[in-house]
Amino acid sequence: MQSTRPDERLGAAASFVRQGAVFADIGTDHAHLPIFLLKSGRILRAVAADVNRGPLDRARDNAASEGVSEKIDFRLADGLSGMEALGLTDIAICGMGGELIASIIDRAPFVREGDVRLILQPMTRASVLRAYLAREGFRIEEEKIICAASRVYVCLCAHYDGKPYSLSRAEEECGQSLLLRTPTALERRYVGERLSAARKKLAGRQSGGIRDEETETLEALVSQYERYLEIKS
Ligand SMILES: C[S@@+](CC[C@H](N)C(=O)[O-])C[C@H]1O[C@@H](n2cnc3c(N)ncnc32)[C@H](O)[C@@H]1O
Repeated sequence: MQSTRPDERLGAAASFVRQGAVFADIGTDHAHLPIFLLKSGRILRAVAADVNRGPLDRARDNAASEGVSEKIDFRLADGLSGMEALGLTDIAICGMGGELIASIIDRAPFVREGDVRLILQPMTRASVLRAYLAREGFRIEEEKIICAASRVYVCLCAHYDGKPYSLSRAEEECGQSLLLRTPTALERRYVGERLSAARKKLAGRQSGGIRDEETETLEALVSQYERYLEIKS
């Protein structure tokens, strides 16, 4: 392992983990997150789980070279399966697509009980994840926009309160809280990327002569993003 200090992406995830948490890292791969959290004293023990043997072996090797093997319960598991009775309080699911993260949460009803904090870092389709969380009654507590390997991502934390809510398309794409504040340069870039994607989709529909509800939604989205980036600058 090169360093026990996580990059900005995993650093954002680490910052959401509560002191003294019973922590699990799902899709741990290299186990950078549990190793860092153990070495910094934020948590006492961790579960490091991965569905694939290779990444789990890598996690074991890294933990051994950092001297924290005894404090980690390594599990070959699909998502959160078999972890109902571990008393987990803080669960990270990072570095996967938004749809896969949503499906892992959906297959683990126990995350809806007690005071469980979910720390989620989708690499793609964050909008699908936000829509799932809203529909199922998971409140998004905070979102951080981060840059890693020259790409911009979101990392968020959420908990279940059983009160579903609806999000506009722009809120699904960018997050509710971001659209309410004056953006930082990185947040402008995050919204700017969504603006470019919406413009591209809209241009495709316009050149194909498609005039339907989705075309109208995209038009509204483009002007909302343009207004947001101009007005709040
Ligand atoms: C790109 S790595 C991310 C590693 C680390 N979490 C990070 O963010 O840097 C994704 C990891 O998730 C694992 N994975 C994929 N689907 C999974 C599932 N259903 N349950 C557990 N692990 C899974 C993969 O084997 C891989 O090691």
